[in-house]
Amino acid sequence: MKSAILLPLLTLTTAFTPPRRHHALPHTHLTMVSTSPSQTTSTPHDIVRVDLADGRDYPIYIGSNFSDDETSEMLRRHIHGKRVLIVTNERIAPMYLKKYQDLIEGEGMRVDSVILPDGEEYKTWEVMSTILDKALELGLDRKSTFVALGGGVIGDMVGFASAIYQRGVNFIQIPTTVMAMVDSSVGGKTGVNHPLGKNMIGAFHQPQCVFIDTSVLVTLPDRELKSGLSEVVKYGLIRDAPFFEWQEENMDKLLRRDAEATRYAIKRSCENKAEVVQADEKEAGMRATLNLGHTFGHAIENGSGYGYWLHGEGVSIGTVMAARMSERMGWIESGLRERIVRILEKADLPVKLPKDSPMTVETFNKLMSLDKKVADGQLRLILLKGELGSCVFTGDFDVDALQATIEEFVKDIRA
Ligand SMILES: NC(=O)c1ccc[n+]([C@@H]2O[C@H](COP(=O)([O-])OP(=O)(O)OC[C@H]3O[C@@H](n4cnc5c(N)ncnc54)[C@H](O)[C@@H]3O)[C@@H](O)[C@H]2O)c1
Ligand SMILES: [Zn+2]
Repeated sequence: MKSAILLPLLTLTTAFTPPRRHHALPHTHLTMVSTSPSQTTSTPHDIVRVDLADGRDYPIYIGSNFSDDETSEMLRRHIHGKRVLIVTNERIAPMYLKKYQDLIEGEGMRVDSVILPDGEEYKTWEVMSTILDKALELGLDRKSTFVALGGGVIGDMVGFASAIYQRGVNFIQIPTTVMAMVDSSVGGKTGVNHPLGKNMIGAFHQPQCVFIDTSVLVTLPDRELKSGLSEVVKYGLIRDAPFFEWQEENMDKLLRRDAEATRYAIKRSCENKAEVVQADEKEAGMRATLNLGHTFGHAIENGSGYGYWLHGEGVSIGTVMAARMSERMGWIESGLRERIVRILEKADLPVKLPKDSPMTVETFNKLMSLDKKVADGQLRLILLKGELGSCVFTGDFDVDALQATIEEFVKDIRA
């Protein structure tokens, strides 16, 4: 069965081939932090800036083992009022809430907290609105600051709550997963899931700052760490060939949680994300390329039953499918597809559907037609085209190549 979405109605092709560039990017500074005068030592850390119009530019601080003084000094700079609401979840609260609460209180603020249940299934309107309830009960005004302490689920929900609470209050992202550090905490996409679709309700709302202390990753389970790495691979593929090549050399270090390699991968990912967001904040075109592998991946996540795959795992299989489809159309060399499979395997991520997968051709077609990038009934995909590091966002692709790719991956399950 071929779904109607697969018949192109209009052609939209946007090609993105960024200029080859050096490892040092303009928005990065290796900084020696100068903290309070009483402090004698300082820790080198990176600052990646997200340059946006209308005074909405903000820093991403990236370091490991920031001292208490550094942490409170950096956060205080971005808290304008006297009231702070930290939102986290049941899993993270016992590990990290008290530290941040104490540090911010030490700066003379009143800090309250909300602890939400843990899990993507709680990324709902109902759970998000408990943040609003608490803020109202506490009498928080428009000068209050919300702090998201957690992974992408917490970040997306708190960002959304702060976008709509009294028509918008400041918020700070303190991401605690690789996924959130390299992707979701940067760029201002916030929202919740709806029973009829993931991330279907939301708003663009940029944080005041993103504070990344990689030392919290010590408690992150391996599977979550690897899931985040699929987004790191994505940046290399869509726009940063030297970064992909670096990953080919250093993936084992990332898996071993080597501190320097991890920090570098986070910094480089944030630089890439910042550049894309600066160029296309509201996703008129270029920002969509951050969804490489996601249309296939979301279909896999959803069709396999939410909870079976982590987001990055679905994206990993989806990336291989996008690469295979690009190869079928002659847009990339088969050698590049093989490199993609190899690096994802090195990251211990899935590259095909497992034997017990319930996915069928029909499920793919149905679920892919619900993608947010469908415009006027036409499916648009991010596909690789040309050399490593180049991609297109297009509705003008060979429908047969898409079908053949889906069939190939589904057939592989039954083989
Ligand atoms: N806004 C965006 O641009 C964007 C981009 C990518 C993904 N997302 C969203 O992000 C979400 C996925 O984020 P995620 O992968 O971070 O999942 P998550 O927030 O569910 O975190 C994964 C798990 O790790 C736990 N955890 C978090 N930090 C920990 C730590 N330091 N130690 C131990 N456990 C820890 C969490 O409690 C959770 O159980 C999805 O909802 C996705 O839609 C948003
Ligand atoms: Zn993603």
